[in-house]
Amino acid sequence: MLPESIIWKNGELLLLDQRELPFEVRYAACRSAEDVAVAIKNMTVRGAPAIGAAAAYGLAMAAVSEDFERSAQTLLESRPTAVNLSWAVDRMRRLYHENTGLPGKELFRLLEAEAVKIHKEDIEINRKIGFFGQQLLPGAGTVITHCNAGALATAGYGTALGVFRAASEAGKKIKIYADETRPRLQGARLTAFELFADGFDVTVITDSMAAFLMSRRKIDAVVTGADRIAANGDTANKIGTYSLAVSAHFHSVPFYIAAPLSTFDIKCASGADIPIEHRDGSEVREICGARVLPDEIDVWNPSFDVTPAELITGIITERGVIRAPFAGRIKELLTEGAVANEK
Ligand code: MRU
Repeated sequence: MLPESIIWKNGELLLLDQRELPFEVRYAACRSAEDVAVAIKNMTVRGAPAIGAAAAYGLAMAAVSEDFERSAQTLLESRPTAVNLSWAVDRMRRLYHENTGLPGKELFRLLEAEAVKIHKEDIEINRKIGFFGQQLLPGAGTVITHCNAGALATAGYGTALGVFRAASEAGKKIKIYADETRPRLQGARLTAFELFADGFDVTVITDSMAAFLMSRRKIDAVVTGADRIAANGDTANKIGTYSLAVSAHFHSVPFYIAAPLSTFDIKCASGADIPIEHRDGSEVREICGARVLPDEIDVWNPSFDVTPAELITGIITERGVIRAPFAGRIKELLTEGAVANEK
């Protein structure tokens, strides 16, 4: 059975150490917001919704024993691209400031309950994304996904992988190609592990094989997650997503993003406004600890890229599937709570 990515137990946060998967299942214990920020930065926990939930628990711990605002700031700075992190931090911050008059223990209980709510809500949201997303897939088909937008990247079930789970629950037979996802190999180490554990027909390819695969086999859809979606639909996700979308467009393969509404950021008018995390060059210089490049050769290591809205066929949310032109529908979904399933 797939191990849980986040466990809250007796006031302590246990994070499945995703750097060790698939060969070791080990949990790292976090006892402060500071510990959580370190775990987010070093990618013990990763995936947009998972880091949001972990940060929420971090702030529950900070409510009694740490400088709350400083902890919130440290968490916000731990990774810049996934907006779910600031979404969760802002939600916890609001509650904290509305209730600072409460005795310490009560304040902690209140923030703890909110963090549990953020965590549990995420599973429900993913099931709804799965419900809408699976309707886009045929009864028997083949898909490609990138990075890991599964149970490991969320509180459970997953966004993109939730779509495949829901399809399977609906009796559909879906074959999945998982891009290995250089440099950190989340596709090979996490997605393949997760899907295999759940009995899916999963095959790993290197990122550079996707276009050729599309030219040789019928691919029914590409489905990936997202870290931040701008007001016009431009979407930041793991580096390599953009190339996959370009290849899908060239081969007329529908390209879908699966993401909760907490991943939208209408303060970013377009993808140009989304902050892109650049990580240490050692991630490119080494593959699983083995050096493949000498230090004197430069590397460029953006952790995310931006797929322009025009390459996206649809965005699958917990309120339904939205299609181009995205801007108006995104605004409605976020500001008016409109229910839309434009399948
Ligand atoms: O650097 P990571 O592993 O945190 O990147 C994760 C992704 O890009 C996921 O696709 C995204 O966060 C969505 S997870 C439901």
